[in-house]
Amino acid sequence: MSPDSIFRARLHDLTARELTTFADRHPRSAALYRNADHLFGRVPMTWMNKTPAGFPIHLDKARGNRITDVDGNEFVDFCLGDTGAMAGHSPEPVVAAVTERLRDGLATMMPTEDAAVAGAELARRFGLPAWSFALTATDANRWAIRLLRAVTGRSKILVNSYCYHGSVDESLIVVGPDGRGVSREGNVGAPVDVTMTSRVAEFNDLAGLERELAYGDVAAVLMEPALTNIGIVLPEEGYLAGVRELTRRHGTYLINDETHTFSAGPGGATAYWGLDPDVVTIGKAIGGGVPVGAYGLSAELAGALSGRGDLDLVDMGGVGGTLAGNPVSMAATRATLTEVLTEEAFAGMITTATVFADGLIEIIEGHGLPWSVSRLGARVEYRFAAPAPRNGTESARSADAALEDFLHVYLANRGVLLTPFHNMALMCPATTLADVARHHEIFDAALKELM
Ligand SMILES: Cc1ncc(COP(=O)(O)O)c(C=O)c1O
Repeated sequence: MSPDSIFRARLHDLTARELTTFADRHPRSAALYRNADHLFGRVPMTWMNKTPAGFPIHLDKARGNRITDVDGNEFVDFCLGDTGAMAGHSPEPVVAAVTERLRDGLATMMPTEDAAVAGAELARRFGLPAWSFALTATDANRWAIRLLRAVTGRSKILVNSYCYHGSVDESLIVVGPDGRGVSREGNVGAPVDVTMTSRVAEFNDLAGLERELAYGDVAAVLMEPALTNIGIVLPEEGYLAGVRELTRRHGTYLINDETHTFSAGPGGATAYWGLDPDVVTIGKAIGGGVPVGAYGLSAELAGALSGRGDLDLVDMGGVGGTLAGNPVSMAATRATLTEVLTEEAFAGMITTATVFADGLIEIIEGHGLPWSVSRLGARVEYRFAAPAPRNGTESARSADAALEDFLHVYLANRGVLLTPFHNMALMCPATTLADVARHHEIFDAALKELM
């Protein structure tokens, strides 16, 4: 047998052992899953079936960076709701603000003072003056796209290959083997061929971007300043400045989607790298776990849109949602930004993440593995490739679902959770160095058994 076949056989056997342990530790979760006959896919949202173990762990309680499941198992949580809980689970100031608000009206279609404070804080952090709220980052992206199509009169949106911006039709495109855009595998019910609405370029590829922008039909580039949804792919020197220069030259607006790159610091990657986008979109963490999304517009854009009497921005024009900007989301966002995800909190989270990343590198090197570790502020990720992938396609190629599943179940059986999507670990204000050490000890033990 080749060394790879021996490795695969061991991986298979160890995974089988871990799955048995998982089933033994989670009888109640398994029963709840088995009995959820009236949930499509047996879960409230189909992606909750993204679990390596055959059924998901069911939540009892979560606080800070600790989760207790319905079987009484306790976990150190580095998934943090895939960033929805970057502020920690149920942070006290958010619970207090929301609890107070809950008694005083939930769905009134009226603005509250909290919204103005949250908007001002987002403006201060991200450098864009005019903010509007949605309930999800997906909707923030959808609405921003519509506004930029309206302003430019152009039809297309350009994204990076293997990006994720939520369930946004225009973003489900990748660079195909022949270098042209093609629908992303598994794209559900696309209204039209995605190449009719979208263009695509690899991250870190300015020549590819320029080639696509030269068609003159791209209203906006929608991008993360670092890819985060196919592992972390960091920008190379000069890339982000090049994107800004090219978008300006071709009359294309630039949207920074900061939903995950917010991990870079209090003003996300935009402030951290001194970027100058026309629009920032964001969601998840800014509500401390309460649903919210937001987009911020430059003064120029806000002015251009306000002057357009032909655009219905107050009723049926395609931008808006009844519960968007609701008092609860606004109270939560204000509390999260002003009391939880503060400058000091980010400083602590980033220090912890640096220790996490350094420790990972040491363990991976100690085992002589050709893997890489990337960090973006409070967010750390390892990929099964070295050097670190430069773009989404390279990063997608380095995925190893069987290996990933083994590591995730192994960690979960010993009380540590990573995000179920790839190998991301996120720090929140409550994450301690002892939590990091606990992860590392288990991760090292997993590799010792495997290698
Ligand atoms: C960069 C980015 N944008 C947007 C979204 C969509 O967020 P939501 O699912 O809250 O709409 C995600 C979700 O993971 C994301 O990673």
